[in-house]
Amino acid sequence: MVENVVQIIQNKVTLSKTNRFITNEEINQLADEYGTPLYLVDEQTLHEKVLELRDAYQNFDGQVKIVYSIKANFNPSIIKTFMKDKITFDLTSLGELFFIHKLKVDPENVIYTSVTEELEEYKQVLSYGIKRIVVSSYFGLINLSQAANILGIVPKVMVRMNPEVGVKAEVRASYRNGKFGVPLNGGKVDSAYYLVKSIYDNPMLEFEGFHFHLGSQITNFVCYINALERLNSLLNKLKKEIPTFSLKTLDIGGGTPVFYNEPVPSPKEMAAIYLDKLNNLVSNHGDFTLMIESGRFLVAESSIMIAKIVNTKEYNDHKIVILDTGYHLLLDCALLKQEYPQEVATNTHNNSHLYSSNTNKQFTGKNIHLAGRLCDTLDIFPTSKMSDLTFANVGNYVLFYNVGAYSLVFNMPFHCQTKPPVLMKTFDGGMKLIRKGTSYDDLFAEEGGLIP
Ligand SMILES: Cc1ncc(COP(=O)(O)O)c(C=O)c1O
Repeated sequence: MVENVVQIIQNKVTLSKTNRFITNEEINQLADEYGTPLYLVDEQTLHEKVLELRDAYQNFDGQVKIVYSIKANFNPSIIKTFMKDKITFDLTSLGELFFIHKLKVDPENVIYTSVTEELEEYKQVLSYGIKRIVVSSYFGLINLSQAANILGIVPKVMVRMNPEVGVKAEVRASYRNGKFGVPLNGGKVDSAYYLVKSIYDNPMLEFEGFHFHLGSQITNFVCYINALERLNSLLNKLKKEIPTFSLKTLDIGGGTPVFYNEPVPSPKEMAAIYLDKLNNLVSNHGDFTLMIESGRFLVAESSIMIAKIVNTKEYNDHKIVILDTGYHLLLDCALLKQEYPQEVATNTHNNSHLYSSNTNKQFTGKNIHLAGRLCDTLDIFPTSKMSDLTFANVGNYVLFYNVGAYSLVFNMPFHCQTKPPVLMKTFDGGMKLIRKGTSYDDLFAEEGGLIP
C-alpha cells in the first residue's frame, strides 16, 4: 500500500530519487529496534550533494572550493563523510572548532567566520593552525591583529561585506543596518573599504578576499547579481588606491535552496544566473578561488525523520493526527513554518488497520492536520504540497523528508523530551548508529538532578 502512496506522490511531483533510501520493511524493523522518533541519514546522498554543487560551478573560470557550513548539522559522522570528499569547513564558534579538532580536520581546509570575534577566540583559532579568517567588524580586525602579534602568525584575512541588497528568502542575512558583516562604505571604520585598507597597512595581516552571505533557501537569485555588481565597484575603487591590491578568494556564502514544498531551481540553474558576473570579475580583477559555502543544500536531503502516529481525533470534517514527535525535533516547523514533505508508511508489525478511523470517514489533504506531542500551540507540522497523509492512522509511521539541515542541531528538551537516536545508511548499505538517543536518566542528570 505504501509503495502505491509513493507512486502517487511521485506522479504528483517528481521526488528526487535519493530521498527514499530505505524500504518499508527496513522502516518497520528500525522502528521496532530503536523506537520512534528516529532520524536516518544517507551517506550516499551527502556525497552526491557535494558532486552536484561542484558540477554547478564547473564553468567558473577559476578554482572552486565547496565549503560545508557545519552549523547546519555538526554530527561527527556527517563531517567525516564530507572529509572523504576533501571539502572545506566553515566554522562559527569555538564549540565547532572543538569538533573539528577532535575529528583532526586539516586546518588548511577550514575557514572561520565569527560573529563575536573576541581576542581569546582568535587566539585559539590561530593556534589550531586555521589561517583563513573572515572578519566582520573593525573591533574584530583589531582583535585578530592582536592575536596574530601574540602568536607570531600572519592570518589570511577575508572581509565579510554586507552588500545590503534586497533578498527574497525566508531567512535573510543581508539587509540595511544588518548584524552580519560591514557595509561596503557605511561607517567610518566599520566598512569593507576601511577594513581592507587597514589590512594592507598591517604587516601582521594578509588580505585574502571577500565574503558575503545573503540568506538561506533563496529561490530568486537577482540578489547575487546585485551583490556581485556592488563588489565589482568596490574592487575598482580599491585597485585605484592600493597598487598591490589583489583578490585571491571570494566566498559567496550559502543560500542554495532545497525542495520542501515545491520544486526549486537546481544548483546548476542557480549558478547559471550569475556565472557571467563571476567570470567578469575574473577577467576584470584576475584569477581567484570561488567558495560556495553551503549548509542546507549539502545535508537536507540526506535525512528522514520517522515518527509514529499515537492518537487521532476526528471532528467537523477534520482529522487531527498526533505524533510522538514535536517541534523540539524539527524547530523550523515552528520558527519558519517549514513545510517538510511527509509520507505515511504502514506499520506492518501491528494491527493498525483496527484503528483506521473512529468514524470510517475518508479524510484527505487539507483536512488532515499533523500535530506534535508538545503542549504548545505552535506544535503543528505544516504539510507540504508533496505530503500524502491519506493513511494517517494510529500505529502507522509518518516520514518527514529532507530534514538534515538545522534540525538535529536544534534538538531541545522542552517538556523533558530526550534526543532520539540517529542512524546512518553507509556507502556499503549497512546501518550504523551515529548518535545514541538520550534517556530520562541522562536528562535528569544534565539538568542538575544529581546535584545534592
Ligand atoms: C556565514 C554563513 N555561511 C553559510 C551559511 C549556510 O547557509 P545555507 O544553509 O543557506 O546554505 C550560513 C547560514 O546561516 C551562514 O551564516
